[in-house]
Amino acid sequence: ATTLGAAAAQSGRYFGTAVAAGRLSDQTYVNILNTEFNMVTAENEMKWDATEPNRGQFNYSGGDRILNQAVGNGSRVRGHALLWHQQEPGWARSMEGSSLRQAMINHVTQVATHYRGKIYAWDVVNEAFADGGSGGRRDSNLQRTGNDWIEAAFRAARAADPAAKLCYNDYNTDGINPKSTGIYNMVRDFKARGVPIDCVGFQSHLTNNAPSDYRANLQRFADLGVEVQITELDIAGSNQANAYRDVTNACMAIRACTGITVWGIRDTDSWRTGENPLLFTGSGAKKPAYNAVLDAL
Ligand code: XIL
Repeated sequence: ATTLGAAAAQSGRYFGTAVAAGRLSDQTYVNILNTEFNMVTAENEMKWDATEPNRGQFNYSGGDRILNQAVGNGSRVRGHALLWHQQEPGWARSMEGSSLRQAMINHVTQVATHYRGKIYAWDVVNEAFADGGSGGRRDSNLQRTGNDWIEAAFRAARAADPAAKLCYNDYNTDGINPKSTGIYNMVRDFKARGVPIDCVGFQSHLTNNAPSDYRANLQRFADLGVEVQITELDIAGSNQANAYRDVTNACMAIRACTGITVWGIRDTDSWRTGENPLLFTGSGAKKPAYNAVLDAL
């Protein structure tokens, strides 16, 4: 195969990218998007501040634009993200307790219902675990509504869109460490108690190397009976092409690793300004990292 999406499809996987609605008028961007990728994630347009800027007033314009463009190109869509402590609208940031709990579950229900039947997988909860050695949850007003907020969100998402796979997504979880182990324990508990969860997303914002236990970490999650997906891959540094090859090989070695998404198309599209962490140059040329990924798929 000669494109990332077609190469991934040979083994039943997908290859995706984050898309920004504001770039869909850029022809170079859209040409690469339509040629190379068969999964799309809205970079910002399906987040809480975008979809519910005022309480109870929903705006799906950017998300719908990205979804319709993707569907028109035969691509599927990963929904990102129903609940996250960042890009939380101001009205929600100033809430707490049971009224916030009600507002956040309503948000999950409304957005998952709007996109019902159209989303391959939702990042239901994003980045809820703390960095460092605690293995516990990060403090946020969402967490302070009660430790069961994550399972409540997953149950609400399942009820609203039974066909969507439901994922937990986080960063600095790419190797075996206290943070990824905390998430591992949560997923194991959810599976044991019948809380609906189908997949775990590993953002994989990396520099130079994937952790040496990257594959082993993906495998231990797969062994819990969930899919694993690489959801926001970008890699800075001089070892970039080798690291992209290693990450792709790790996913390919695990049956339950169903796809890889890079967090943007060209280096100039990246949120990591000046780090050039993506597969295409600013002018849209394929980089060595692109060839390394294509070879490994
Ligand atoms: C980033 C976007 O790329 C930026 O455009 C935005 O300003 C901030 O968010 N983890 C995530 C993504 O889950 O949603 C973030 O995306 C990058 C880190």
